[in-house]
Amino acid sequence: MHRDLISRLAHADHPIAAPLDDDSVRRLLDRALSRGDERVLDLGCGGGEWLLRALTACPDVRAEGVDTSEVALAHARKAAGALGVQDRLVLHHRAAADFAASHAFDLVLSVGAAHAFGGLLPTLAAAREHLAPGGRVLVGDGLWLREPSREAVEMLGDFANLPTTVDRVVADGWTPVYGHVSSREELDGYEWAWTGTLASWALDNQGDPDSAEALAVATAHRSEWLRVYRDTWGFVTLILRPTAG
Ligand SMILES: C[S@@+](CC[C@H](N)C(=O)[O-])C[C@H]1O[C@@H](n2cnc3c(N)ncnc32)[C@H](O)[C@@H]1O
Repeated sequence: MHRDLISRLAHADHPIAAPLDDDSVRRLLDRALSRGDERVLDLGCGGGEWLLRALTACPDVRAEGVDTSEVALAHARKAAGALGVQDRLVLHHRAAADFAASHAFDLVLSVGAAHAFGGLLPTLAAAREHLAPGGRVLVGDGLWLREPSREAVEMLGDFANLPTTVDRVVADGWTPVYGHVSSREELDGYEWAWTGTLASWALDNQGDPDSAEALAVATAHRSEWLRVYRDTWGFVTLILRPTAG
C-alpha cells in the first residue's frame, strides 16, 4: 500500500495531521489571522485542513498550499469544492523547498512538515523567504517531554525539549507571540485516531486486497507509539514574528 494512501485513510477522523484538537487549531488560527484578509501559504499542507479552516473562517483570506502527496492534494481540492472556497485556494504539487512564488505571504504555516526541510530552523529559513513585511509564521514540530530512548530518537528524529526549542527559535531571530503545547489528550487522541481509523477501515473492508496490510500497519504503529515514544514525544506549535525587520 502506498504510504500516502495509508496516511489518507488514517486521517479520515482526524483531518489535522498533527496532535492538535479542533479548539487548539481554531485558537491558533484566530491569533495568526488578526486582520482576516491575509495571504496564507502552507508548506507541507497535506489534505489542506489548516487552509480550509482559515478560508472558511475568513472570507477575505486567500491561500496556497504546497505538498508532494497528490493523494492529499486531491483530497484538499475536493474538500475546498465542497466548502465553496476553491476560488481562494491554489494547490501546488511539488517539494516545499522548491516552491517559489511571485508574491509574499502574510502568514506562512508549516505544521508537522519540518522533515521536508531538514528540521525546524531550516523550515523557518524557508518560511522567512516567503514572508511579507509584518508577517507571521505558524510552525508546529515535535519535542521531547523527557529524555528519549535511543530507539525513539532513531524512529522519530532528534528533537529538543521545550525551553531549548524556543531558545533556538529566538536565537534564530524570531519572537514567539503565541504558542501551544499539545496536551496528553491531544497526543493520545491523535494516535488513537490514526491507528484506530486505519484498523477500522481494514476490518470494514476485509475483501479488499489492502486490508491485511492496513491492519498490520495500524498494529505496528500502535505498538511503536505505546512502547517507544508515548512517554517522551510531544508537540509544540508557535506563532512567530521576525524579531527585526
Ligand atoms: C504530518 S503531515 C502534516 C500535514 C498538514 N500540515 C497538517 O498539519 O494537517 C506532513 C506533510 O508533509 C508532506 N511532505 C513531506 N515531504 C514534503 C516535501 N518535501 N515537500 C512538501 N511536502 C512534503 C507530506 O506529504 C504530508 O502531507
